[in-house]
Amino acid sequence: MKILEIQDLEVSFNDQKAVDSVSLYLNEGEIVGLVGESGCGKSLTALATLGMSHPSSKVQGKIFYKDLELLALNEKDKRKIRGNKISLIPQDPLSALNPVYTIGDQIAEVLEVHKGLTKKESMNKAALTLESVQFPAAFKRLTDYPHQFSGGMRQRVLIAMALVTEPDVIIADEPTTALDVTIQLQILEIMKELRRRGKAILLITHDLGVVAEVCDRVYVMYLGKIVESATAKEILTNPKHPYTIGLLNSLPVEGKESLTPIPGQPPGIHAIPTGCAFHTRCPYVFDRCKTEIPELYDIKTSVEHKSRCFLEIKD
Ligand SMILES: Nc1ncnc2c1ncn2[C@@H]1O[C@H](COP(=O)(O)OP(=O)(O)OP(=O)(O)O)[C@@H](O)[C@H]1O
Ligand SMILES: [Mg+2]
Repeated sequence: MKILEIQDLEVSFNDQKAVDSVSLYLNEGEIVGLVGESGCGKSLTALATLGMSHPSSKVQGKIFYKDLELLALNEKDKRKIRGNKISLIPQDPLSALNPVYTIGDQIAEVLEVHKGLTKKESMNKAALTLESVQFPAAFKRLTDYPHQFSGGMRQRVLIAMALVTEPDVIIADEPTTALDVTIQLQILEIMKELRRRGKAILLITHDLGVVAEVCDRVYVMYLGKIVESATAKEILTNPKHPYTIGLLNSLPVEGKESLTPIPGQPPGIHAIPTGCAFHTRCPYVFDRCKTEIPELYDIKTSVEHKSRCFLEIKD
């Protein structure tokens, strides 16, 4: 069942679109990847969903949690959803924790705010939640401060903070990027366990290796737009958009000598190319791509698969 649906989301700064007609949905019990290079609009999409967009941005479109339209809610009602029904595991674990409060206080506070529990009840639940994400000696360590933990442990604190209210939807913004490979795999195992418990997870990453490990479906973003979407298996084995193909070719593969990165860098939102935004880096570019923006064309396969590329038009 669909639990979250984003329709035609647009986030702009001074009329420059950083997120442009993004539509995506999440079913219960599903891990959905949102993939793309730095600056393509992944975090802005996450923040808009949580009603945490920067005050200087203009946000348009619709975001449904069940049948509630989130962008239309007032601030008080947004707060009832944010951190309670939909939570964020933020991108930067260091700055997301307050250095002057103990981890127990920080997790418990979420419960005191959303569930009206007492301090003692909240602390107890905080420790149990930490245990559920394999945090050793959780009860003893509630009174420690963020700096007393490693990066991997701090990431678990943030995951516990996001989970302690038992939300239905979790948006994890690059939850494994700063971590070494062993810890990354442990965090991805936690994501899989949450999926088993029926949670819907939007997993933001620039790493298709992470997608291969855990995602059910994937949306690929380039310069604010979704350029391809399909099941993870389809994206990994039958990619259609030249950008997705480029991302896959730049993945490290065992036994392969050198990687083939996509040439150049994505231009910023101040210099979005005309036509297909990827045309300046695309090996298959032809004239039409330079002037006309392709739609998300349906690809005729047995699964839902879309690609924003003129190469999909068969005549
Ligand atoms: N407050 C802001 N004011 C102006 N531009 C912004 C603001 N926040 C983000 N942007 C721009 O919007 C674009 C998308 O930003 P976003 O943070 O969503 O990227 P991202 O895909 O999450 O990248 P990363 O992988 O580096 O986290 C970037 O070009 C960024 O510079
Ligand atoms: Mg980001």
